[in-house]
Amino acid sequence: MIEGSADVKIVTICIAATLRDDLKACPTASIMLRGLSAENTNLKSILQEKIPKEQERIREFRKKHGSTKVGEVTVDMMYSGMRGIKGLVWETSVLDPDEGIRFRGLSIPECQAQLPKAKGGQEPIPEGLFWLLVTGDVPTDAQAKSLSKEWAQRAELPSHVVTMLNNMPSKLHPMSQFSAAVTALNSESKFVQAYTEGVHKSKYWELPVIAATIYRNSFRDGKGIGAIDENKDWSANYASMLGFEDPQFTELMRLYLTIHSDHEGGNVSAHTSHLEFIWKTLKSGQVVPGYGHAVLRKTDPRYTCQREFALKHLPNDPLFKLVATIYKVVPPILTELGKVKNPWPNVDSHSGVLLQYYGLSEMNYYTVMFGVSRALGCLAQMIWSRALGLPIERPKSLSTEILIKQLGK
Ligand SMILES: CC(C)(COP(=O)(O)OP(=O)(O)OC[C@H]1O[C@@H](n2cnc3c(N)ncnc32)[C@H](O)[C@@H]1OP(=O)(O)O)[C@@H](O)C(=O)NCCC(=O)NCCS
Repeated sequence: MIEGSADVKIVTICIAATLRDDLKACPTASIMLRGLSAENTNLKSILQEKIPKEQERIREFRKKHGSTKVGEVTVDMMYSGMRGIKGLVWETSVLDPDEGIRFRGLSIPECQAQLPKAKGGQEPIPEGLFWLLVTGDVPTDAQAKSLSKEWAQRAELPSHVVTMLNNMPSKLHPMSQFSAAVTALNSESKFVQAYTEGVHKSKYWELPVIAATIYRNSFRDGKGIGAIDENKDWSANYASMLGFEDPQFTELMRLYLTIHSDHEGGNVSAHTSHLEFIWKTLKSGQVVPGYGHAVLRKTDPRYTCQREFALKHLPNDPLFKLVATIYKVVPPILTELGKVKNPWPNVDSHSGVLLQYYGLSEMNYYTVMFGVSRALGCLAQMIWSRALGLPIERPKSLSTEILIKQLGK
């Protein structure tokens, strides 16, 4: 993370330098800048055109509305984790309380219909979603494919990260392994070099290799993860590195990695549901996992699209039937409780059952897969945060003491 305005300036300069370097390296880039179209598969040159325009648009907007009020903050909001406070700019996705997540304005069903699919596949591929998140445009098949190829070409891990992962005890939680490996990738960070060399890149393409290595080390006695195939898409490579060859599992990965990619900035996951314990759970003061939402007020569309996937591919699976029954039983109980604002299921009450069906049964690993997917959204937003020179968030905090002093007892 970049802290402080001086660093932000350096980042802006680095991006500008990167863009200049690219222009030098690519003589046709200036032509592309004028006529960027759906035929252009060079994401960087598309951003070269978009970033200055967006910077200008925001500069103008802020000049006009910089001091316009967008909401108010109550004491209750402060004590409820800032729920409902409009206080952040997040370009890549916005969560609608009724319709769920919209990626650059497109709902999940719209993404499923419009984003490119793998050859023979029916689900959108995450590369297409990433393109959409970064550029705001639905990519062509060729554009999405160009990302598949580029990510495959950049997938090799530095040897010290491989050694580190291989030396980790298999009982270390997969998420701890994942976090440590991502941190260790700093040695290769082009962004660190950017301070001196003017190069700017992020490291999203390596995450499936790390995640697959962790899976094989933790659950498959460290047996080989196979080579990356440049002609396969990101999810297909990830699935085969995990050791899964069923094409339906690959389709599930495409859907999974797409729908978990962004959610206005981050979320907690839980993957279990137990029908018979609902009232007991509630009475003991615990929550029913996979139900409820801080913002959404209807069934999560990410639940719905996974339910549709299950209806298509595993309609008779007993666990899916249980999940479907819970869908009928839990909302009325939560409604009866009186205080739950959203009694409907969220994404977490469906993803687990699909992974279990295809044999990815190690629940400890699920947060790692979630991390691989969510990295897409975070990195797409980081590109824009850096391009727009957004500083780190620093909302003002107050103590109860000060609040009472200000507002009275
Ligand atoms: C997601 C979640 C944290 C949102 O919390 P929130 O914004 O505080 O939700 P609400 O405003 O509806 O909460 C009001 C009350 O209902 C309770 N509630 C909400 N969802 C509930 C659930 N699934 N089971 C039982 N009680 C629940 C809250 O705990 C709160 O109780 P309290 O006033 O006694 O503290 C909450 O719904 C939850 O814990 N769900 C289960 C865990 C889960 O699925 N997490 C993944 C989210 S993607």
